[in-house]
Amino acid sequence: MPFLITGATGHLGRLVVEQLITAGVPAGDIIATGRATDKIKDLADQGVQVRAVEFGDTAAVRAAVADADRVLLVSGMDPGDRVAQHRNVIDAARETGAGLVAYTSIVNAATTTIRLAADHQATEQLLRDSGVPYVLLRNSWYHENYTDRLPAFLAQGAIPGSAGEGRISAAGRADYAAAAVRVLTTDGHAGQAYELGSDEPFTLAQLAAEISAQSGKQVRYVDLPEDEYAKALKEHGVPELMADMIAETDATLYTASGHLNALTARPATMLSAAVGAALRALDGN
Ligand SMILES: NC(=O)c1ccc[n+]([C@@H]2O[C@H](COP(=O)([O-])OP(=O)(O)OC[C@H]3O[C@@H](n4cnc5c(N)ncnc54)[C@H](OP(=O)(O)O)[C@@H]3O)[C@@H](O)[C@H]2O)c1
Repeated sequence: MPFLITGATGHLGRLVVEQLITAGVPAGDIIATGRATDKIKDLADQGVQVRAVEFGDTAAVRAAVADADRVLLVSGMDPGDRVAQHRNVIDAARETGAGLVAYTSIVNAATTTIRLAADHQATEQLLRDSGVPYVLLRNSWYHENYTDRLPAFLAQGAIPGSAGEGRISAAGRADYAAAAVRVLTTDGHAGQAYELGSDEPFTLAQLAAEISAQSGKQVRYVDLPEDEYAKALKEHGVPELMADMIAETDATLYTASGHLNALTARPATMLSAAVGAALRALDGN
């Protein structure tokens, strides 16, 4: 059964391809797409069908989708533009009779009012209207959103944010990839909306405490009004629209659904493990 993974040149999509192969899917049954396909030459070397597909190129999208039965649509990166990009994939899936489209949405998409969710909500509606069998993978934040910023947190002794006491059900990208692999390789998921996040939610103060304990360096959480946090993100190079969106998002990423562990049949990566691994990587170990 052929699988198409979009965004396979990115972090999450690559993990899905790797985990499909580990799960026993023949590499030749996997179509891995993205723009910068040089990043996944190693997957091509293993026999994965690597294709350069820009979401806006409807002919290329259609050709890739036509060769697949199950499609993982990893959401794009351009707020505002990505609904049209996603529509191309969904239209192609409808026209070619795809068996399933799994879409990486955002946790609590049915109820949240944050701006970051708007594109996901619109894409979910396109799927509902399409008639294509679909499943929603509503992901909470990645651990990596924080662990990638460890050098700055350690240098400043501070984690800026505007989450207040809000708890965040972040999990590792590899956990979300495992959930995606599960819905792609087993039956019974069409029509489901999975709220995916760790069963070990944490506040940003708890994240700061974990980093302090493991690094031996004092790091504290600094809660800022949303506009000040957005300003700080912009000063660190985050594009304006994205900075505004991120600033209002942290405190909305909680779920107690238990869906992630249920799908993957194992506990998601613990925060302590994610922080430990990131600190070791910084030390070059
Ligand atoms: N839950 C979270 O915490 C969180 C955080 C950040 C992002 N996200 C969302 O989750 C998605 C996956 O996360 P990630 O960490 O894997 O992101 P990533 O590493 O930036 O990967 C994004 C992927 O989307 C592809 N892409 C973007 N625009 C495209 C276009 N116009 N045509 C074709 N492909 C396009 C990229 O292709 P190229 O690299 O080849 O250009 C790349 O493969 C993101 O795209 C974003 O929607 C979630």
